[in-house]
Amino acid sequence: MHRLEEIWITLSVGLLLVFMLIIGYQTFALGMGPPSHKETIDPQEVDETEPFDDPGVKETGDNEYEIVMTMQAFQFTPGDIEIPAGAEVTFTLATKDVTHGFQVAGTNINAMVMPGHVQKITHTFDEPGEFLILCNEYCGIGHQMMSTTITVT
Ligand code: CUA
Repeated sequence: MHRLEEIWITLSVGLLLVFMLIIGYQTFALGMGPPSHKETIDPQEVDETEPFDDPGVKETGDNEYEIVMTMQAFQFTPGDIEIPAGAEVTFTLATKDVTHGFQVAGTNINAMVMPGHVQKITHTFDEPGEFLILCNEYCGIGHQMMSTTITVT
């Protein structure tokens, strides 16, 4: 083998090993793995499965709320949510049909809600205002109409 070829192969394999070591260190030592696939749900039985049998806004503590929400083509249940400013809100989400997106414009909430998986996101709404919740995963013919609002008062 040519000398230069040996050098390049050594360099590229070395780089790959370094990257894999960094990712391994972040995942296992620092616990930076994605928090997905933690909770599963039978996508056919969302309406019968707790807590999705009773979707809505629930006060769980001092200015802490859980919003249990189901998604289906092409709506969010419940819609038009109201919460007080400064509230720490945990969204617990499940879809009844296909994959939907859950994005709250003006915040960094942006999640994919896949059939069979329960998605959870926590966010503190400090500023009053009206936030648009929209689906950002193409889910069918009415996808662009799939939105609702969360009003922080
Ligand atoms: Cu739901 Cu797009």
